[in-house]
Amino acid sequence: MNQPSEVPDVVGPVVRPRRLRTTPALRRMVAETSLEARQLVLPLFVREGLAEPRPISSMPGVVQHTRSSLLAAVAEAAELGLGGVMLFGVPEHKDAEGSGAIDPAGVLNLAITDVVAEVGDALTVMSDLCLDEFTDHGHCGVLTPDGRVDNDRTLEIYAEMARAQAHAGVDMVGPSGMMDGQVRVIRQALDAAAHTDVSILAYSAKYASVFYGPFREAVDSSLQGDRRTYQQHHANAVEGVREALLDVEEGADIVMVKPALAYLDVIRRVRDAVDVPVAAYNISGEYAMIEAAAERGWIDREPAILETLTSIRRAGADVILTYWAAEAARLLRR
Ligand code: PBG
Repeated sequence: MNQPSEVPDVVGPVVRPRRLRTTPALRRMVAETSLEARQLVLPLFVREGLAEPRPISSMPGVVQHTRSSLLAAVAEAAELGLGGVMLFGVPEHKDAEGSGAIDPAGVLNLAITDVVAEVGDALTVMSDLCLDEFTDHGHCGVLTPDGRVDNDRTLEIYAEMARAQAHAGVDMVGPSGMMDGQVRVIRQALDAAAHTDVSILAYSAKYASVFYGPFREAVDSSLQGDRRTYQQHHANAVEGVREALLDVEEGADIVMVKPALAYLDVIRRVRDAVDVPVAAYNISGEYAMIEAAAERGWIDREPAILETLTSIRRAGADVILTYWAAEAARLLRR
């Protein structure tokens, strides 16, 4: 005897993940990853002796700022609720020792004081702590007579650079030169000068990447040779975790992975390994690729920006340095 069944036979999947994708409201409610203006940091370039902001051709929409146009940009960043700004200085004259970096009247140190006076506590003001913008050979440190980057002599200059930036009023320094021991030396230099509240965003896992290309134009740098003896090989992820752990031990307040897009796995590994915030730098070449494709009509620019930044957050970055920071904040307000 066949009992007529109350429930018809199931003719399709019982479990339907698509159900949670039905409406915009539902998709928004169950989104796992957020992207907010406060998580974004805008890198800004200021060039000594400029009368007008100068466009950077390989980074459409990004300019080298004058001292005054820089202030308009940081005021806008504050108004948009960004997390902070990262300042890069481009001196008019470069030399082998990068002496503009430690000069209290050097372009970056003056810009720090200007920017802090403009925005006060509304933004975290950060500065790049590295010599490549200041050296005529374009390396992140000073060279030995036979042309190698001298780690320990560079550390002495980084210590002095940290003191100069702290004295200028910076909130957070960003050592990006990949010299061994740089975080420890900078922490000691800051503390010895009573700048115990100045924090360190360490470029910890920083790879020797072809994607830095447009940055060279942004800081007028013509690098002689390459950076492979101090930046990491793109094949290595375990080593990226090692670098991040070392920096935490040396006193880093935030550790960073750079570049971001080709290193999303490294961001995830570092996020799982440390107990400090993790940042990622969505660098110049990553910006340029999307801008170039969008310019040709090959990709839809605004969703591409938001998808890119969300993917970096999803990989584990708490903070993202991106040239789209202001624009993304505007898109997120809509
Ligand atoms: C070093 C520094 C670089 C970038 C940030 N800090 C260049 C490099 O190490 O070669 C690159 C940022 C970008 O490409 O957007 N001062």
